Amino acid sequence: MKPSRPSISPRHPVAVFVGTRPEVIKLAPVVRELAARGVPHRLLSTGQHRELIDPILAAFSLTPDHDLKLMRPEQSLAGLSAALLQGVDALLHQLQPSWVVVQGDTTTVAMAALAAFYRQIAVAHVEAGLRTRVRDDPFPEEMNRTLLGDLADLHLAPTPAACRNLARQGVAANRIELVGNTVIDALHSMVELVRDRPLADFGLPELHRGRLVLVTGHRRENLGEGFDGIFRGLGRVAREGGEEVEVIYPVHLNPKVRRQARALLGDAPNVRLIEPLDYPAFVRLMTAAHIIVTDSGGVQEEAAALGIPTLVTRRTSERQEAMAAGVAELVGVEEEAVAAAVLRLLRDEQLYRRRAVASDAFGDGKSSARVVAALLNADRNSVG
Ligand code: UD1
Ligand code: UDP
Repeated sequence: MKPSRPSISPRHPVAVFVGTRPEVIKLAPVVRELAARGVPHRLLSTGQHRELIDPILAAFSLTPDHDLKLMRPEQSLAGLSAALLQGVDALLHQLQPSWVVVQGDTTTVAMAALAAFYRQIAVAHVEAGLRTRVRDDPFPEEMNRTLLGDLADLHLAPTPAACRNLARQGVAANRIELVGNTVIDALHSMVELVRDRPLADFGLPELHRGRLVLVTGHRRENLGEGFDGIFRGLGRVAREGGEEVEVIYPVHLNPKVRRQARALLGDAPNVRLIEPLDYPAFVRLMTAAHIIVTDSGGVQEEAAALGIPTLVTRRTSERQEAMAAGVAELVGVEEEAVAAAVLRLLRDEQLYRRRAVASDAFGDGKSSARVVAALLNADRNSVG
């Protein structure tokens, strides 16, 4: 079954769905571009995240046209998915969009795309084609991305490797566009605004020591054993890294992450656990960091673009470009490995200099223009 689909028009706008922090950051430049080109569109928030996305929306002066407000404390994947399918479906019924645009691999993405498929609405997937090829790592994101490989009509891939992954899944070449990652657009615009300003302008703590190790961590597959190793490793870095080292970790709002971080790092010397930062503050803090330790996807991409040596606390990575460029290293989640990798970078100046090289592997800051051009082209040629 393939009914004829409406083209983009004021009666059938483009529906851009966001749910979590990285989706807002990575789709903000796309929404800006849609507006600049006069493409009829609506920004729809599923509200998978609440406190985490409000300041990010504000940083990009965005107000969703609708917010499903779905977040529940410690939400289950199944409960969230069920609510998303119903909520998104009702919005699609009301809005009659020509296209649904989603970004990344969250539950919002998988369920919005599935709801669109059920209504036979074309789906454009931004940041398509990332794969680790390990079905449950990251969990559940690898499955979400793989689903999108089959569900989406237009695949906007950030890198050549992502294009190859899609081709390997059987996606036709005319449905794949290499566009770069829109996070670099967001980053460039924010760096311009924040780079030269004092940390205090952003409510950031003064840095008392010379070398900041900036940490983020939130992945579900790292809960329990993984964070146990990562946090103990960081505790050792703070104790053994020398006078100059301080660790700052803006802790994600996931209560399970917060409990573990507080238990293992709450009393550690030279470690500051702080609240999640809004995007301008986080970007400013990244520009002050000596080393970044992270399990985040977006932070890996941003750190590579800024040339900040990064240690990736995961077992697998779908962002091999950062490793190939030399700026990032996959260190796993064992206490010994995490501590050793950070201490090595702190002590070996030559190694540090070799790693501290900015890479444009994830994009040149012009990806959102390519995303919108590809969308309009696909719309004209009825690719959906
Ligand atoms: C989700 C995504 C993950 C993405 C991450 C970005 C899924 C399955 N996971 O993970 O891919 O990398 O977002 O941050 O889609 N919470 C709050 N306030 C908020 C946000 C979260 O209190 O603003 C708490 C709630 O208790 C919520 C829990 O964190 O239930 C988990 O949130 P959820 O979106 O389910 O998963 P994340 O771990 O944030
Ligand atoms: N980020 C932020 N404040 C923070 C931590 C991260 O604004 O306190 C930004 C970061 O710059 C990046 C994005 O959030 O663009 C990454 O989101 P997250 O790590 O939650 O998700 P992932 O990218 O792993 O899906």
